[in-house]
Amino acid sequence: MLKIKTSNLRPGIKLGKDIYSYDSQLLLTSGSTITQEHLDSFARRNIEEVFILDESPRMKPERDFEDVYQDALEVVNSFMVGAMLGSPLDFQEIDKTVDLLREQAFDAIDLFRQMRLMKNKGEYLFTHSINVSLLCILIGRWLKCDRNTIRELGIAGLLHDLGKVFIENDILNKPGKLTDQEYEKIKKHTVLGYNFICQNPDMNLEVANAALMHHERVDGSGYPSGLKGQLNFYAAVVAVADVYDAITSAHSYADKRSPYSAAEILWQESFGKLDARITKVFYDKITNFYVGNKVLLSNKKEGIVIYVDPFQPTRPIVMVEDEFYNLALDRSITIRDIID
Ligand SMILES: [Fe+2]
Ligand SMILES: [Fe+2]
Repeated sequence: MLKIKTSNLRPGIKLGKDIYSYDSQLLLTSGSTITQEHLDSFARRNIEEVFILDESPRMKPERDFEDVYQDALEVVNSFMVGAMLGSPLDFQEIDKTVDLLREQAFDAIDLFRQMRLMKNKGEYLFTHSINVSLLCILIGRWLKCDRNTIRELGIAGLLHDLGKVFIENDILNKPGKLTDQEYEKIKKHTVLGYNFICQNPDMNLEVANAALMHHERVDGSGYPSGLKGQLNFYAAVVAVADVYDAITSAHSYADKRSPYSAAEILWQESFGKLDARITKVFYDKITNFYVGNKVLLSNKKEGIVIYVDPFQPTRPIVMVEDEFYNLALDRSITIRDIID
């Protein structure tokens, strides 16, 4: 029998010991096969560890990440090109894709690694849409949302930049700085995406709102409306996922940044820009997941993260051979990358 963290569980694994709630109610008996519903309920009830049978299939989802990702790329490609031509969205297909993505979004470290490997497998807009969807699902789990909300967050992530298909490619893929006029055009992807989603009779208004408002910021500095104050929840989750994927991706910034720098930038953005609660949970989780991981430092040395200070999680202690670097004390050194 093995004791494992519920965050590492997958549907299909057999339970090794009965699970009881805090008020001693029997929730699940030993030998039961764990389903997605069970996983969602563990998250809601704060059940962090369970025992599983040794002969359980390992913590792998039924399908390979790469397989699911490739299929999702085809679906995204087809609905985005379809949107450009005016075809309605096939929400059945989108739901199915998000259900498959949901099975993949459990182990954050593994997910970030896999997403990095898939970065150049498709056009940026398509991979970005899938990554944001996966991150929205993960954030939804960390915030202990119910199953339906997690699914809708996944859909919101997948569709958030749909309006970009209506923007000229030259502007969208322009490598240098945008002119004010070009930037104004890019900003329109929010309204264009919202309008297009709203034309579909079986659309979900929250998903459409996330497309409209994912660039709004709490201090009113965002677009398209410069709304001030608490953002719509779905838009707020998409905003955090969107910023994270943009920072860690080589396409949108001069240099690709490590998840640590991304976490630091997110943290700064949480003051007045992004939703503080969502950013905090994301920041805490990312940084804590990296204990034991191999990293490349800015002084070109490779080491292992051995301790994360909860008050300065992006500045851990890193062991390089038999030397220790305390990045909280030595601020000149940063983490450049996570090495697999
Ligand atoms: Fe966007
Ligand atoms: Fe985006």
